[in-house]
Amino acid sequence: MGDVCRYAVVTGANKGIGFETVKQLAKTGVTVVLTARNEKRGMEATSLLNEQGLSNVVFHQLDVQDARSIESLAKFIQTQYGRLDILVNNAGASGVVVDEDVLRALNVDPEDWLAGKAINVIQVAMKTTYGSAKLCLDTNYYGFCTDCPYFGVIVLMQRVPNEERRKELGDVENLTEDKIDKILQNFLHDLKQDALEVNGWQMMLPAYSISKVSLNAYTRILARKYPKMCINCVHPGYVNTDINWHTGTMPVEEGAEGSVMLALLPDEGPTGCYFDRTVVDEF
Ligand SMILES: NC(=O)c1ccc[n+]([C@@H]2O[C@H](COP(=O)([O-])OP(=O)(O)OC[C@H]3O[C@@H](n4cnc5c(N)ncnc54)[C@H](OP(=O)(O)O)[C@@H]3O)[C@@H](O)[C@H]2O)c1
Repeated sequence: MGDVCRYAVVTGANKGIGFETVKQLAKTGVTVVLTARNEKRGMEATSLLNEQGLSNVVFHQLDVQDARSIESLAKFIQTQYGRLDILVNNAGASGVVVDEDVLRALNVDPEDWLAGKAINVIQVAMKTTYGSAKLCLDTNYYGFCTDCPYFGVIVLMQRVPNEERRKELGDVENLTEDKIDKILQNFLHDLKQDALEVNGWQMMLPAYSISKVSLNAYTRILARKYPKMCINCVHPGYVNTDINWHTGTMPVEEGAEGSVMLALLPDEGPTGCYFDRTVVDEF
């Protein structure tokens, strides 16, 4: 796009990887709309970046679960800029209710955490309730499922996909939003019946896992639907943020590298791909 000004939106950007993504994107000259569901937190984060000389960062409220809030942001973009080039769909929720003091006391090894080996140990510190799971699916998956023909580049924040549902969601040719929706409704049904384990769902952060695997699948559907756009998903690494109660080992500066790289892809860049940080990988 050469010297033409580019416009980006980053969701859930008042802290963590989203905040850092805004910062790094703004440093390259992109005009970035830092969005947050909480106005105070979002404005404080924006002021911080403005004070660092990044006057090309502006704030707009966005709660990805709230249709009116999404509509208001869309109107703002349309009026202010007339188009949007980049969407980094970063907002996320963990899907569990956690006792952070108990979790800290467990002092789980990050390697065990990542490999899913800590699953039995951490059960004492966290539980998946119907409410926390629903909130997670609504934020991580349904919060994004909206028609988006106006964007040039879309980046979705992912977690390493789990084996169980990979096959089910890996049938790219026949994948539809309805199919994903059915899987998620089955998940909620099984959770309500206390039948997740018996039905083979991932038991390490179950709601979070299925929300992210669904987003992986949705990446492919969207990429097929909008072939002229670059629509990819990225696993940022195991990053030290609130979402994993600071068990992550990587600093946010490195965690944002993948999303920033994908946000800045040229028009003819890859689409429908899964990236492990900055490197393309298998879904
Ligand atoms: N950290 C990791 O190791 C890791 C690994 C793989 C993937 N990811 C993904 O990376 C993304 C960013 O996570 P993070 O690590 O930076 O965690 P984080 O620091 O907890 O940030 C999550 C952000 O999402 C926002 N959010 C939650 N619900 C929202 C809603 N309904 N509407 C708008 N914003 C909402 C939060 O806002 P509030 O401050 O208002 O709660 C916060 O700004 C997430 O999608 C996460 O799943 C992270």
